[in-house]
Amino acid sequence: DDLERLAADLRTAETAVALTGAGISAPSGVPTFRGDGGVWDRFDEGQFTHGRFQRDPAGFWAARIDLQRELFGDDHEPNVAHEALAALQQSGRLETIVTQNTDGLHDDAAEAISDGDRLQTPLDGPSILELHGNARRVRCVDCGQRAEADPIFERAAAGELPPRCDCGGLFKPDVVLFGEQLPGAAIQRARSLARESDVFLAIGSSLVVEPAASLPRIATGSGATVAVVTLEETPFDELADVVFRRDVTDVLPALYERLEES
Ligand code: OAD
Repeated sequence: DDLERLAADLRTAETAVALTGAGISAPSGVPTFRGDGGVWDRFDEGQFTHGRFQRDPAGFWAARIDLQRELFGDDHEPNVAHEALAALQQSGRLETIVTQNTDGLHDDAAEAISDGDRLQTPLDGPSILELHGNARRVRCVDCGQRAEADPIFERAAAGELPPRCDCGGLFKPDVVLFGEQLPGAAIQRARSLARESDVFLAIGSSLVVEPAASLPRIATGSGATVAVVTLEETPFDELADVVFRRDVTDVLPALYERLEES
């Protein structure tokens, strides 16, 4: 079956890479952006662009308070899909997790399964590559100082709009906004991982936002086995070697168990 085929490729793969999107955190209660009940049905994407932040930081922050609460207001825990990926990493089957998510749940899963110790970072780069940043932090646009997001959002909610760093600079959520360039180093690393990979897993992403959209194509182009795991169709499905139209919490633990049996 498809699972066995993928497991067989993973057994012999030198480099396996996973790309994740909002769908992997959906079973943890984090809403997705698109699809049924998606965040962009209820919030206006235009409110959260980099241009808006620059033109009207107070208005941006006022709107962002609600989005932050919607996305991360409840305490979210990693689910069995995050844990299966962390376990695959720990057993050396999976090199890097490239994620579009800003919820930090891959880190939590890695910590949980390694008894509080962080996974060891391979010499050639971080094992979890956060393409869109991390919403648990904010960053001063002037001095670059990072701070925990929660207290800054509390200040904003109490009326400090926009919240500012001690240096006087504006705080910005430490995430990539629409219209903002992704850090060049992160994109390059993601592309070279896709190129090097023998197995590439695209998990819980609609694969419509760049650069994530082109990573599976790069992997296919360089001969990797590419698998897609999403509930809904993606534009990449036809090119994929294997498509699992199933819940991440079914597929990933089953994949991990299959590999452990061997
Ligand atoms: P999307 O919300 O676009 O897509 C989520 C995908 O996950 C869809 O294909 C769903 O079918 C699938 N899905 C949902 N629940 C699932 C489950 N339990 N099991 C399997 N699949 C499931 O999320 P992303 O592709 O991550 O960017 O979105 C990409 C970017 O668009 C985000 O990082 C964000 C957004 O605008 C920025 O904020 C810059």
